[in-house]
Amino acid sequence: MSLPLIALVKMESTKADLLTSKADCLVVGIGDNGALSTAAIDLDKLAGGWVSQSIKSGALKTKRGELTLMPAIPAIGTGTSAPATLMFVGVGDIEKLRRGQAFDLGAAMMRRLVDAPRERVVVSLAGLIADELHDAVVAGAMMGCDGESIYMAEPKINPPQVIAWHGFGDASIAQGAIIGDSINTTRRMVNEPANHIYPESFADAASAIAADVGLAIEVWDEKRLESEGCRAILAVGAASIRPPRLVIMKYQGGDNSQPWVALVGKGVTFDSGGLSIKPTDGMVDMKCDMAGAATVLGTMRAIALLKIKVNVIGLCGLAENMISGTAFKLGDVIEARNGTTIEILNTDAEGRVVLADTLDVAVQHKPVAIVDLATLTGACMVALGRDVAGLMTNDEPLCEALGQAAEAEGELVWKLPMFDFYGEQIKSKVADIKNTGDARWGGAITAAKFLECFVGNAPWVHIDIAGPAFAESSKPHRDAGATGVMLRTLVAWLNDRAAGKP
Ligand code: BES
Ligand code: MN
Ligand code: ZN
Repeated sequence: MSLPLIALVKMESTKADLLTSKADCLVVGIGDNGALSTAAIDLDKLAGGWVSQSIKSGALKTKRGELTLMPAIPAIGTGTSAPATLMFVGVGDIEKLRRGQAFDLGAAMMRRLVDAPRERVVVSLAGLIADELHDAVVAGAMMGCDGESIYMAEPKINPPQVIAWHGFGDASIAQGAIIGDSINTTRRMVNEPANHIYPESFADAASAIAADVGLAIEVWDEKRLESEGCRAILAVGAASIRPPRLVIMKYQGGDNSQPWVALVGKGVTFDSGGLSIKPTDGMVDMKCDMAGAATVLGTMRAIALLKIKVNVIGLCGLAENMISGTAFKLGDVIEARNGTTIEILNTDAEGRVVLADTLDVAVQHKPVAIVDLATLTGACMVALGRDVAGLMTNDEPLCEALGQAAEAEGELVWKLPMFDFYGEQIKSKVADIKNTGDARWGGAITAAKFLECFVGNAPWVHIDIAGPAFAESSKPHRDAGATGVMLRTLVAWLNDRAAGKP
């Protein structure tokens, strides 16, 4: 598998007169109460009040996300010095537009325009939506240019060669493009099937990305994992002909005196359940079980390109959970890297076992904060549904800071409690802990209680992304499949930290 180092679409700014510059499509923003973008105003003037009349009559809808694609009107001229098609984009109440919605709007808009190949799309939203939202629209637009159908002879998604943003600043465009490309990097990794992405090929892709953006990277192969005592990672990967890996990336954006933050991702490149085998319905999407690791990788890429002034170490624990004569078994006791003994009572609760050693390696770097991301439990989806990530923590202020970053970016998270008594459920009769709770009740939390045994005294937040990481069906603003969820939140949180917020 050779992962493209994605630069899907060239994003640039333009100051040209929109009605006389060449474009396959001119995208024109229209909001409630007569709010119009620059090009909408020009069009309206040129065509004798046509835009405002059409809005008044209800023929053009301004509701947020409403898209109207049509051939260009004769009044703006024809040929190479005029746009060929127009698309009106409803922005709704511009006062109420927030970053998450701006992102979704950018994505929905481009998803409508990738049905056929286009060279140049010109977007006029400046003057209508606030400057602070421009990067979010650009990021969303980039996300809208990629999807899950990556193995079709006839591509379903045809990204334009260029998107030119009228009146957007270069910095907003560059920042949005980096975020969007990084989300797509994460999504591509997750959407790639498990015959292409396995621990070694994931590590190779991470190395290529690291080289591309200037991240330091170290890959522990199975021999190194053995000498490092990563017996838990090795146990989960023991059945597979694709041996486990641990990827350690470093980005030092701050100076030497600044503390390190650790991002840790679950990278189970395929989760068959192992001997506690999953039924087909439960297994069918389990190529997505490395979404946590792919999110860490995408986030490291983004912060390196954005040059955020923070020091971050990113760790991906990679293993394939399979079945063979060498598989780990029910009743096995594994001594994890930190010395804790784990009784295995369900080989399908493998993510926490991989994370046990991965978190311990993170702790060794003495981070001031650890955030882990994992498609960890179906129970979290039962609790919160498909669209919301669960937060569990041993440190309220850290969790609060992440929650605020998520809120600002419009990504949905909700905190679950970590009362002490939940910890009773993972006590084992033969070892220090066992890898399942007593019953399925509170399964997201008992999994987090297990992870807590491996973070030492470090402030830590666990994000269970089993629900939102991989979508069953598409929506106007995103394709089905991998979503890249939480990357924007992590970048926003790290930006906040660089700005001195707690
Ligand atoms: N990878 C799964 C969790 C999952 C389920 C992620 C659905 C995304 C969508 C995880 O390894 C798992 O199998 N968890 C078990 C734990 C149980 C055996 C204690 C689960 O949730 O059923
Ligand atoms: Mn599992
Ligand atoms: Zn899993």
